[in-house]
Amino acid sequence: MTRARDVAALFESAFGISPSGVWSAPGRVNLIGEHTDYTGGFVMPLAIEQRAFVAARPRADRVVRAVASGHEPRSISLDEVGLGRPDGWLAYLAGAAWVAERSPAHDAPGHGWDLALLSDVPVGAGLSSSAAITCATLLAMSDLDDWPEGRQELARWAQRVEHEVAGIPCGIMDQTASLQCTSGHVLFLDTRSQELVQVPWPASDTGFALLVTNTRAPHMLVDGQYADRRRMCEEATSIMAVPSLRDATLSDLDAAMQRLSDEQAACARHVITENARVLATRALLESGRAMEIGPELTASHASLRDDFRVTVPQLDCAVEAALAAGARGARMTGGGFGGCTIALVDRTSAEAVAHVIDAAFADAGFTAPEHFVAVPSEGAHRE
Ligand code: GLA
Repeated sequence: MTRARDVAALFESAFGISPSGVWSAPGRVNLIGEHTDYTGGFVMPLAIEQRAFVAARPRADRVVRAVASGHEPRSISLDEVGLGRPDGWLAYLAGAAWVAERSPAHDAPGHGWDLALLSDVPVGAGLSSSAAITCATLLAMSDLDDWPEGRQELARWAQRVEHEVAGIPCGIMDQTASLQCTSGHVLFLDTRSQELVQVPWPASDTGFALLVTNTRAPHMLVDGQYADRRRMCEEATSIMAVPSLRDATLSDLDAAMQRLSDEQAACARHVITENARVLATRALLESGRAMEIGPELTASHASLRDDFRVTVPQLDCAVEAALAAGARGARMTGGGFGGCTIALVDRTSAEAVAHVIDAAFADAGFTAPEHFVAVPSEGAHRE
């Protein structure tokens, strides 16, 4: 609650008036289902405790004026928003209002907003700090203006903010996680049908924990690598003549091998096997065998390293060290090229595993990582 009070105080000191309310939305880690969300596949993210808090109040004009802790206030007219405008954190706040007014359901031009932002989701760590900001903002606007859209529509709008304002061609996982996760659960999402299933995550007293390691290796999705992998998947889909990679099997892949480049084949193999691992993980969790998901996590990492090629030495090092220290399974989580790993560990050994990872990083000369235990948390809500 104190972060909610802090962001309201920030709003008041910047604008000299009280906000209409405060909303928050979480970051996420993905348990499994990586680089499957833009080819109609399956993902299983969970919301983390770290959240973005947004205080909001409508304005009568078309200006979005915003303040973020540690930054000078910024503003932009809704008429100036577009690809790359504004940049930085304001893109997610102004982009939310801009995308909403472009929805066919909202026939009248939108109005401006005063907004304050405070977030404890680490930025650039692959924990979906930007989805947290956009989702908190959209939910604030939706509640205050009584929009009829449900949460999954808001998730799609948040994705449009990434595509059309921030310029990042992401899938729908992060935004769905931020808006739809519930505490104590991992969210199973079929990105094609948009079916959502809340899969219970074992209570903390069952003896194991999900240790998150922020490798602090620079994480950049904008540098073209993400778009490149996405293109490989699209090319493989069309060469294999399937509606989406979700529909392909390993025998389809074998049959098309002559026509695929090595890179296209490897990317497709990752996605096909990863979708199967998500389904296996879900089945194990639903039958109370959570401790047995470890090999699925580790196999996912190997596939992302060898076939999809989105790991970096820090991610591989954290995974190897965690496994050597007795983790049941470990993998990179998020887009890759830096960011975080997760390791399934016995609760009592979480600290020891973290120390082994620290030592391996020190030996390799990497920046010291940071760790926390992920607690599956509540999605976006009004504070
Ligand atoms: C990023 C994107 C997601 C998803 C993951 C990879 O987090 O924002 O949509 O594609 O990478 O699974």
